[in-house]
Amino acid sequence: MDWGMKNRLAQLIQADGRCLFLPVDHGYFQGPVRKLEDPRKTLEPLLPYTDAIFITRGVLRSCVDPDKTKPIILRVSGGTSVEGKDLAHEGITTSMEEAIRLNACAVGISIFVGTDYEHDSLLNLARLVDEGERYGMPVMAVTAVGRELEKRDERYLALSCRIAAELGARVVKTYYCEQFEKVTSGCPVPVVIAGGPKVPTGYEVLKFVYDGIRKGAIGVNLGRNIWQDEHPVAMIRGIRAIIHENATADQAQKLYDSVKGGKA
Ligand code: 5RP
Repeated sequence: MDWGMKNRLAQLIQADGRCLFLPVDHGYFQGPVRKLEDPRKTLEPLLPYTDAIFITRGVLRSCVDPDKTKPIILRVSGGTSVEGKDLAHEGITTSMEEAIRLNACAVGISIFVGTDYEHDSLLNLARLVDEGERYGMPVMAVTAVGRELEKRDERYLALSCRIAAELGARVVKTYYCEQFEKVTSGCPVPVVIAGGPKVPTGYEVLKFVYDGIRKGAIGVNLGRNIWQDEHPVAMIRGIRAIIHENATADQAQKLYDSVKGGKA
């Protein structure tokens, strides 16, 4: 692996082999989602606790100060919206040259296995990997399910993650599920967990992050379940303790409660 690729990956995946990525890219197809209406306001208090942010170029330029930020994973796929016919019909929206200009540490692209646009999204990934490898830019593949949230089972996610790795993704982002160990064991590159729509309690989030790490994930790329929580800083600190300090879900909940109560 060349120096640039190694250096970028080292900025994302910390010395302990773990990572906490914070995605705020949701607007690229969902518009101003709840609690991300003003990305600058959402991000500012959370930045100290993240290892990297997953973001589009537009929000990066308009809402993030270049001298006060964390490593960037640039969302480079899109071209669809929740109002359109098919969320899976994404293309590449941002060039590799732009990613380099923005000093990104990785680029991220969604793939849509099992949809009408499976072939296009997988070839987009393959082409992006070709370019990324040329310039030392890691590619993170996002195993997207669009509106079909019920697809998030171990068989489907293991299939999608493995295909992403085979096509050359350096990191794969997927959902936590029952028998998650089958997803990670079938994927030869690091896996990070996304959260999906907000789950009812914060403890459930801490629990699936803890279980996901135990079952082979190296960290998270978790958005709504952090910044839509009533106490986002408490939540990110709880998750950070699980990822980087080997805290259990119960210990992380205690930390959450102390931060919420102003005691930590
Ligand atoms: C949205 C994404 C997000 O990065 C991903 O879904 C993670 O965010 P969340 O935890 O809110 O699901 O790819 O397009």
